[in-house]
Amino acid sequence: MENNTAPWPQLEAAAAAALSTAYAPYSKFRVGAAAQTTDGRIVSGCNIENAAYGVTLCAECAMVGEMFATGGGQLAYFVCFGQLEAGKVELITPCGRCRQLLFEHRGADMLIKTDTGILTMEQLLPYAFGPNDIAL
Ligand code: THU
Repeated sequence: MENNTAPWPQLEAAAAAALSTAYAPYSKFRVGAAAQTTDGRIVSGCNIENAAYGVTLCAECAMVGEMFATGGGQLAYFVCFGQLEAGKVELITPCGRCRQLLFEHRGADMLIKTDTGILTMEQLLPYAFGPNDIAL
């Protein structure tokens, strides 16, 4: 997957739009995630919190849910924005659990745009445990 064909502007717009729909009354940290699938669809999601803090849904969970609800597939390019209260909307790197989620649903050579640059899945989650480790 070539970086120069990456639809970063479209994904950033989709992630920002998703962020604006976040439900984050507890952390006050809105998140919007967006990805292009290997077959060219754009999917997105926001974080949805819960009074039982530990069962918060990250934006990536909602995004992967949308991918499955719209036909399944695999992720080719991914971007995620965060915003604390009325602060700046900034690129963030996915949390540990969501790195695992991205690993599971990645297409070959998926690229992830983060606050420290454009990374491969192997850079974002080295030595990952995945489907091959349980012989699926
Ligand atoms: N959050 C995400 O949605 N994705 C991440 O990758 C990092 C964290 C959410 C969870 C919680 O609602 C808020 O950000 C603060 O942790």
